[in-house]
Amino acid sequence: MNNIYRCEVIAIDGGAATGKSSTARALAEQLNFMHVDTGAHYRTLTASLLQLGAVPKQTARIAAHLKQLHLSTELTGQSALLSINNKAPSNENIRSAKVNASVSLFAALPDIRKFLFDYQRGQLLVAKKYGFKGIIMEGRDIGTTIFPDAKFRFFLEADASTRAARRLKEGVNDSITNRDDLDKTRKMAPLVCSKGAIRIDTSQLTLKDVIERILAIINIKQDD
Ligand code: DC
Repeated sequence: MNNIYRCEVIAIDGGAATGKSSTARALAEQLNFMHVDTGAHYRTLTASLLQLGAVPKQTARIAAHLKQLHLSTELTGQSALLSINNKAPSNENIRSAKVNASVSLFAALPDIRKFLFDYQRGQLLVAKKYGFKGIIMEGRDIGTTIFPDAKFRFFLEADASTRAARRLKEGVNDSITNRDDLDKTRKMAPLVCSKGAIRIDTSQLTLKDVIERILAIINIKQDD
C-alpha cells in the first residue's frame, strides 16, 4: 500500500554543513514533495535588515521593519522560496559573507522567529495547493518548533573536519562553528535534536547512502 499520505511532513534539522540541503532537495525530487529551506528565510530577512542598516540590538527598529513586509512564496522547481513584498532575493545576496556573519544573531531574535512561524507552518498548504504529496522542511527547529507533530523527523550531524572540508569545497566564507554555537545557545527555539528524531551522522556517508537510509526508515514505496 502506498503510505505516502501518512508522512506529509518530513523535518530535517542539523547544524551547518551537515548535509541537510542536498539531502532535502534530493528527497523532495524522489518523493515529489515540496522542499523548503528555512535557513534561506532567515537569510532573506537578514539581507533585508542589513540593507536597511539595522543591527540585531535595534529590536524596535527591526519590529517596525517587519510590519512593512509581506511574505509570499515563489516556486522554483520543487523548492519554495520566500519573497518579500513580491520580490525573491538572489541566492548570491542571501549567501554573502556579510549575511553569513550576522544571520544567527538576527535569527536569535524572538520577533523574527515569531514573524516566520505562521509563514513556515503555512508552507504545508502551499505544498498542497501546488499538488505536492508533502513537504520536506529543513532548518534548526523544524522538529522541535515548526512541525513537532511531523511523523518523520531527522537530525543530521557530521564531524567538524568533514563540515569544514565541505564548506571549503563550496568556496564559502562562513564560520560554521561560530554560527552553530549561537544557534545552540539562543533562548528561543535553539538547535537541538528533537525528542524522538532519528540522528544520522553523515561524516562517512555519501548523499546516496543518506537518502537510502532515510527512505528505508520512512518506508515509502516510490513506484506505487
Ligand atoms: O541553513 P543555513 O545555514 O542557511 O541557516 C542560516 C542560519 O539561519 C542559521 O545559522 C541559523 C538560522 N536558522 C534558524 O535559526 N532556524 C532555522 N529553522 C533555520 C535557520
